[in-house]
Amino acid sequence: MSPSSAAPVVAGPGRPLLRAAERALGGRRSVRAARRVVRDVWRLWLDSGDRVVAKRHPAADGLAVPAADPLVVEAEVLARLAVAGAAVPQFLGADAAERVAVFSDVGTWTLDDWLQARPGADPHLWAARAVDAVGGVEQALAGATASLQRWVPAWAQKSALTRAWAAAIRQAQAGLAWLVPPPGREATACLAELADDLARRSPTLGSADYNPGNVVVDPVAGTVCLIEFSALGWDWPERRLVQYTTSLGARRPDGQLTPLLNVAAVDQAATLGFDAVAIDGHWLVFLLNLAAVLAQVERAAATGPTRLWAGTERRRQLQAALSVPLAASGPAAACRRCIHQISFVEGEETR
Ligand SMILES: Nc1ncnc2c1ncn2[C@@H]1O[C@H](COP(=O)(O)OP(=O)(O)OP(=O)(O)O)[C@@H](O)[C@H]1O
Ligand SMILES: [Mg+2]
Repeated sequence: MSPSSAAPVVAGPGRPLLRAAERALGGRRSVRAARRVVRDVWRLWLDSGDRVVAKRHPAADGLAVPAADPLVVEAEVLARLAVAGAAVPQFLGADAAERVAVFSDVGTWTLDDWLQARPGADPHLWAARAVDAVGGVEQALAGATASLQRWVPAWAQKSALTRAWAAAIRQAQAGLAWLVPPPGREATACLAELADDLARRSPTLGSADYNPGNVVVDPVAGTVCLIEFSALGWDWPERRLVQYTTSLGARRPDGQLTPLLNVAAVDQAATLGFDAVAIDGHWLVFLLNLAAVLAQVERAAATGPTRLWAGTERRRQLQAALSVPLAASGPAAACRRCIHQISFVEGEETR
């Protein structure tokens, strides 16, 4: 008798996925219940009482880097991170035929949802834990660059980062022009200087998908873990940190801009090898990119209904965030001063 035939029939994922998860676990466990988390990700309750997460990866055909099968990459990277004691789920096994990977369940909230829900928890505590988690992964992968590089697809190589950064800066300049029209030559030059300063810094290898939906919080255990290591790429650690910890409420129509980082968290990050000036820089560029998105949404709203990031409240949140420095000096601080000379006189709308 196969283990799963003893389990109640579970509606949803279908027996192929359940059987695959059981095979991935070595055939020693059966699934008692399952619930979908998102598209191809399921939370499974095992007969042992444990909870695990099963994820079906897309077919590996047509991969740009044939060796970089997400199933293989994720297994190897998580194994390396586990040895280093980084805050990530355990990779429990995979079923190649069904392309299903099984992980330990590290919590039921993403940081994105957790910050939007505003559960009244101490933000300093969660900021400290998130910084620790991101810093721990950076440190663990820093020594493994030579062996990880073979899995990096073309779109995540250093040359692609250079192109992506140029696009992000064009977008930031557009965001600046929308936020403080006309931005003037000084602010534009300040932003260009900031962009160059950040571009001169050395990128590192890490997860190519760094957003607060890939940070999982367990409020009871008080833990913060990073998930999603099936694709690796070059980027700046400070850019990852900013984007991992800034919630936009991606899954909600009423998402609010909710940053977790503050000066204390940045001080702590500095003890883990992050550069405070670079964090502040990436924070500013990220916010100006959001401004550009708001501008696009506003233009789209003129021609059709849209709810994402629309309205003056969103602009107010953005302006408030822009006025919060994460470092006392550096090109971002200069840029911020320049922007504020043009606008944001307290209580005054820029347009
Ligand atoms: N090990 C885990 N422990 C707890 N929850 C997890 C785990 N792995 C995934 N999840 C949950 O499943 C969601 C989706 O997982 P993941 O990000 O790996 O898949 P995805 O296909 O990239 O989805 P998305 O496109 O939404 O990011 C996560 O946001 C998280 O809520
Ligand atoms: Mg994800």
